[in-house]
Parts: sequence; structure tokens; C-alpha cells
Amino acid sequence: MIQKAKGTYDVFGEYGKRLLYVEELIEGLMEKYNYEYFRTPIFESSNLFHRGVGETTDIVTKETYDFKDRGNRDLTLRPEGTASIVRSFIENKMYGNHTIPVKAWYYGPMFRYERPQSGRFREFYQFGVEVFGTDDPIADAEVISIPVNLYKLLGLKGIKVNINTLGDSESREMYRQALIKYFEPYINELCEDCKERFIKNPLRILDCKVDAKSEILKNAPKTIDYLNESSKKHFEEVKKYLDSMHIEYEVNTNLVRGLDYYTHTVFEVEASVEGFGSQNVLCGGGRYDNLVETLDGPKTSGVGFAMGLERLMTALDYEKVEMPLINGIDCYIIPMSENEKEYATHLCMELRLNGFITDIDYNNRNLKNNFKNADRLNSRFVIIIGEEEKNSNIITIKNNDTKEEYKVKYEELIDFLDEHIN
Ligand code: HAM
Repeated sequence: MIQKAKGTYDVFGEYGKRLLYVEELIEGLMEKYNYEYFRTPIFESSNLFHRGVGETTDIVTKETYDFKDRGNRDLTLRPEGTASIVRSFIENKMYGNHTIPVKAWYYGPMFRYERPQSGRFREFYQFGVEVFGTDDPIADAEVISIPVNLYKLLGLKGIKVNINTLGDSESREMYRQALIKYFEPYINELCEDCKERFIKNPLRILDCKVDAKSEILKNAPKTIDYLNESSKKHFEEVKKYLDSMHIEYEVNTNLVRGLDYYTHTVFEVEASVEGFGSQNVLCGGGRYDNLVETLDGPKTSGVGFAMGLERLMTALDYEKVEMPLINGIDCYIIPMSENEKEYATHLCMELRLNGFITDIDYNNRNLKNNFKNADRLNSRFVIIIGEEEKNSNIITIKNNDTKEEYKVKYEELIDFLDEHIN
């Protein structure tokens, strides 16, 4: 038997219904925030992610799905959405021909060759946003408010917002120097990857999964102590706007995030319910004021976030969040014999096009089994089409709950259902 690839999963049944509900809510929320829907290709030039996400990140060094196509081009399955949206912003010259700020939202599969475990997949879905063309801290706060408000709409309660700042380029450079000075005496106590990180990008040491619990990392200098005045002011204002939106947060000075492009604000929202498991980061993001330039665009500020749908679904299940899902169908049609199937099929189509959730017996079941099937499908009405109904155009329709039976003219059936359903 052929099985699904490691780290992937199938969607169907109740999970599928719940997922569609969440997706619709996301779409509705993005409409209210006035964000524009973007869809970019699932594969892109490998270069985009190497330069965009960062050569020293775990994602690029260990986790990308790289391949050559038949034309010998180097391509990569996207491990995240930001680099692609930035590419699209630049390639479509949105800095010149779009209303600024460009506020993009996206949704789709991402691919990372990680060790699969609960909450960590090799193919996973992200919902994310990216805002281009404003360095105002109000944008940082707005971006943070999106996942928070989505969780609120869904009724998810056990969440915690962690924020931090890396400061602008000048502050980051001062911080980098401080990290080099601090880590130098400990270099031999760090893991092999971190020895490499020390040379290429010492900030990445703070994000190491191997050394995460070591005292050396815990006592490392904090970004917040190396901020210049304008970076401090930016962070203060982000907090002010979050307060004004009544969004609760905690400043977590250890938060640096696993991608290279961030400047100023970084944030993560975690599921803070006991027993949730180690993959509890529901979403993360931050500001990236140099990325557009790094990818050959004009200097443009950016800020955004992305959330993993799988972890969100797990959190919703974990908290037993209920959703107003459609349960059952409106009508189930039973053609009594082969002779009535054509007529019944036509009726089925009419009802569906008029907005009624309708199904029909495909399997020539007998009447008893058909009624059992109507119960299984949780149908509100059962429509029986026999020879008499077909010839007279008067339909027999039965309320499957009360078992009351009605005779309704074909042309009055829609009005009848409108009256009896909703
Ligand atoms: P990230 O932190 O790498 O950020 O991923 C964002 C979210 O995607 C995570 O918080 C997690 O919920 C989910 N996620 C990541 N990897 C996996 C996985 N292997 N399995 C399941 N879920 C996963 C980014 O991707 C940035 N592009 C976010 C961003 C947007 N920053 C600015 N704009």
C-alpha cells in the first residue's frame, strides 16, 4: 500500500468542516481589516529563500526542499510566505503603482524538512499578512492584533502574546558586537552548529534548539539593552498602540525568532494551556525594514506575521472550542425506480441551485434503506419520487423529524421549503 509522505496529513470528515469554518473566518476578518488577497507560486527560485530568509537560518541550511527542474533551474518549495510576497511586491512594482501601504494576506501550504512530531509537519499551512510602505509603529500593533482578534472570534482563550525588539540596523550591530564579546570565551561549550553561527551570525545562537536550555544562552546580553533612542521610541509606541487596543502582552527579552530578516518588533503568540505540548507557538512575526532592499527592491519598510493552521486547529480541539457547523442536509430525494431517476435528478439540481443542501439516492436502495440513509445524512426532508409524482408533478415530501407528509406542486416546492426551512 502506498502511504502518504512522512510529515504530511490528509484532511476529511469533522476536521475538514472545522478547518473550512476557520478559513472562512480568516477570510472575513481580512476583509474587515481591508487587506488584499495574494497568492504566489508554491515553488520559487532557490535564491529567493537563500537571500530572503537568510543563509544562516536553520530553515535554509537544513530544511528546504530543493530540486532542479528539467531545464536545470534551481527551485525550492517555499518554506514560508514572506520572501515570496516581497518578491511579488517588487516584481509587480507595487511600490509605484499600488496604494501605499500595501496590505497583503495569504494562505497556503509551506514545506520544511523538519523532524515530524506533534505540531510540526513537513507540509503545513500558514495564514499570514505582510504590510509594505509604513514604518509607523501603529502597523506593528495592527499586525499583532490580527491573530489576537482571530483567536478572540474563534473563542480561543489560553493564549499569550510575547513581544520583543531587535532595534534598527545600528542597534542590531551594537548588539551583535556584544554577543560576539559575550560568547567568545564559551565557544567550545556550544554545539557544532553554534560554533558556525558564532562566525556567521551570532544572533542565531540564541535560537538554537540544542543549546536552548544552557545557562550560557540564558545569561546572554539582551537586545533591549543595546537599543538607540529611535529604536526605543519605536518599541514604546508599539506598546502604546497595543494598550490602546486592549491587547495584553508580555515583553520577553529572549525572543529573537528563527529568521534573519527582522528589525525592531518581533512577536509570537503561544498557546499557554497546560499540557499543550512543546510546539506551542501558534504564530510569529515582526518588522523587517531591510528585506525589500535585500531582495533588490527600493528601500521599503515591512511588517507581518504567519500562523500555522495545524497548531491552531490543535489548540481549538484542546480547548474544545465549539463551532456553528452545518449539521445535516435539507432534502434527500428517493427515486422509486429507474424510471423516475431522470426526473429526480432534475429536481435535485433545481433544489441545489436554489440554495438547499440536497442529496439523492445513487444506489437504488429499497425504501427502508433509503429512510435509514436519510437519517444517517440527518436530512430534514425526504422527497419521494414515484410514478404518480412524476406524472402528476405533485411531489410527496416528508418531514423527517415529525414524519408529517405533504403533497406539494412541483412549481411550489421552493416556496414550501423556504417556508419550512430556516
Ligand atoms: P515562522 O515562525 O517560521 O515564521 O512560522 C510561523 C508559524 O508557522 C509558526 O509559529 C508555526 O505556527 C507555523 N509553523 C512553522 N513551521 C511549522 C511546521 N514545521 N509545522 C507546523 N507549523 C509550523 C514565518 O514563517 C515568517 N514568514 C512569519 C512572518 C511573516 N514574519 C513576518 N512576516
